[in-house]
Amino acid sequence: MSVTVLRTIREIRDHLANVRHKATVGCVATMGALHEGHAALIHRARRECDFVVVTIFVNRIQFNQSADFECYPRSLERDVDYCDPLGVDIVFAPDETEMYPTPTDTHVEVSRLTDHLCGASRPGHFRGVTTVVMKLFEIIQPHRAYFGEKDAQQLAVIRRMVRDLNVPVTIVGVPIVREPDGLALSSRNQHLSQEERRMATVLYRALEAARTAAGEGECRAGTLKKTAKATLAEEPDVRLDYLEVVDADEMQPIETLTGPARIAVAAWVGETRLIDNIAVSPAESGGE
Ligand code: PAF
Repeated sequence: MSVTVLRTIREIRDHLANVRHKATVGCVATMGALHEGHAALIHRARRECDFVVVTIFVNRIQFNQSADFECYPRSLERDVDYCDPLGVDIVFAPDETEMYPTPTDTHVEVSRLTDHLCGASRPGHFRGVTTVVMKLFEIIQPHRAYFGEKDAQQLAVIRRMVRDLNVPVTIVGVPIVREPDGLALSSRNQHLSQEERRMATVLYRALEAARTAAGEGECRAGTLKKTAKATLAEEPDVRLDYLEVVDADEMQPIETLTGPARIAVAAWVGETRLIDNIAVSPAESGGE
């Protein structure tokens, strides 16, 4: 095994001090339970950077329900084995006291972009995300950092944070990886029963239906949402949290498609909350 596992901030800082001046450092921040969606981030980082760091840290402060935090899948040993053949140089897996000495009184918060969608449904979630990502950027000081488009609002919020705070890192968005039946890969999928797993495919079908309507010339967000909701109704046990048409850059709800946009959905399938989104544009369907 060639991947090095480091657990402390001092270790990773010392290690990277000898690397950063002669190599492009890429960072893939994760909460573990790695799957092919993460592999796509790592592959992209591997192609574009000389040195790849994967961080694994289940970040308590971004969970607004403690049960969700407790249940989040943890599999460090398996994750390290997963990283090795992908050519990861370092796995940084700090424990909670390493990342958050108590008391911690400083947080990073992006306003406005976090008012809607997951920001409204999960109060405090994005503050937890931006705080930990900013800490990871300070610790690793990567040249490039890779985030999945499945968490499109998170990606928009992180882009805004680095822009507003002049953080010298290039943020790279990586397209969603889907199962053959369209379900977006997520660590949470492993909580789904067989029946829930089947029901969950309705999310992608609903997004596709709206994208098809947009491709056929429908520009009214209200009508696109109705189209998606008609498909969602095929699975009455899937409980909708939100469905919105938003602009691609800031993820703010829009009324009319006039440029690149996303249709974003969040829904409960059993006890599991899933999110997904799809790119749409006024004239033709946007690709992922
Ligand atoms: O997307 C995730 O897995 C998490 O939100 C992140 C970016 C690793 C921060 O904890």
